Amino acid sequence: AWAAVPAGPPDPILGISEAFKADKDPRKINLGVGAYRDEHGKPYILGSVKKAEELVNSTNPDKEYLPITGLPEFTRNAALLAYGEDSAPLKNGAVAVTQSISGTGALRIGGAFLARHYPHSKTIYLPVPSWGNHTPVFRDSGLEVRGYRYYDKNTIGLDFEGLKADLRAAPEHSIILLHACAHNPTGVDPTLEQWAEISDIVKERKLFPFFDMAYQGFASGSTSRDAAAVRHFVAEGHQIALAQSFAKNMGLYGERVGAFSITTKDAEEKARVDSQLKIVIRPMYSNPPLHGARIANTILSAPSLYAQWEGEVKGMADRIINLRDEVYNHLTHDLKTPGEWSHIKKQIGMFSFTGLKPEQTRALAEKAHIYMTTDGRISMAGLNSGNIGYFAESIDAAVRG
Ligand code: LMR
Repeated sequence: AWAAVPAGPPDPILGISEAFKADKDPRKINLGVGAYRDEHGKPYILGSVKKAEELVNSTNPDKEYLPITGLPEFTRNAALLAYGEDSAPLKNGAVAVTQSISGTGALRIGGAFLARHYPHSKTIYLPVPSWGNHTPVFRDSGLEVRGYRYYDKNTIGLDFEGLKADLRAAPEHSIILLHACAHNPTGVDPTLEQWAEISDIVKERKLFPFFDMAYQGFASGSTSRDAAAVRHFVAEGHQIALAQSFAKNMGLYGERVGAFSITTKDAEEKARVDSQLKIVIRPMYSNPPLHGARIANTILSAPSLYAQWEGEVKGMADRIINLRDEVYNHLTHDLKTPGEWSHIKKQIGMFSFTGLKPEQTRALAEKAHIYMTTDGRISMAGLNSGNIGYFAESIDAAVRG
């Protein structure tokens, strides 16, 4: 039956982990997937997560099905984390929210909901470049995917003029995808002033903003500061859609904890949207997994665990910021590597967009056993004191050709 099925390409991000695993060289470094590593290169289970898990287990919890839209206490607390206590739609009971299979699942629910119910457009504009999985997620959701200018490779910064021009040129009511903070893959975020201008254009053009917030806390170390763009848009009266992930900020990658929410006019409209979210979700996966949502909710609802968690998020963010300085110093001062490397220090979040070319990234994998996505993105947390020197020397060799 499958004689005509063509072999597909490996996933541009997760495929790298497979190649890395197959490499037997002891010097190998995986800077592909965005998964935090501690200073020994090991996966990191947050202390707050361990404690929350013990608390959950100590109640001897059942394994019943969750409701279609997930654990209600968790979704309430997740929305509070994103929108903040002062959020008008939250206070008015006008935010429809559902648990999701992490950030990807939230995007997929949102895409499917918009494709079915958003009356004005079936087109979503993504920043160029965007997370590699955005295009397939939204295409498979039934939306048409287009791009708006975002990254300027000459300045290795934001192409703000291009971004504004493209948003102004998009047909009214188009959906636009915005990375709330720590843009993946570039690490380049708009400033607060630029976000305010983007909000004005979105209003002028009646665009529909869909935020992907996969890194709340990971950019600045503060969960409220990282939610500033989302909160500004809501305060400005926009109705928004929002995908949240707890993979990175709680290190709950494989537990698949996330939330999708959409702000509505009032509680009555919210109830109708809720009912349709259930109709989107039920045939996809019925209802979401239990364990991770219980852990996340325990952290979000216990003040002492919450405070511990915020400290641990900041610890991860700070380690990455220090690594940025170290890479910069190795390349610029120790090795005098040709080129300008200050962008590595300026970029925000889990990734650095190095500017390395696809052939250089391939050479690094083949000759130095250093793995990254072919667009030159590196997951900073894969570096540590044990491998950073070797990493910098290998980059230096690749650049010098
Ligand atoms: C990444 O960009 O590496 C992460 O978001 C993980 C993933 O699922 O791609």
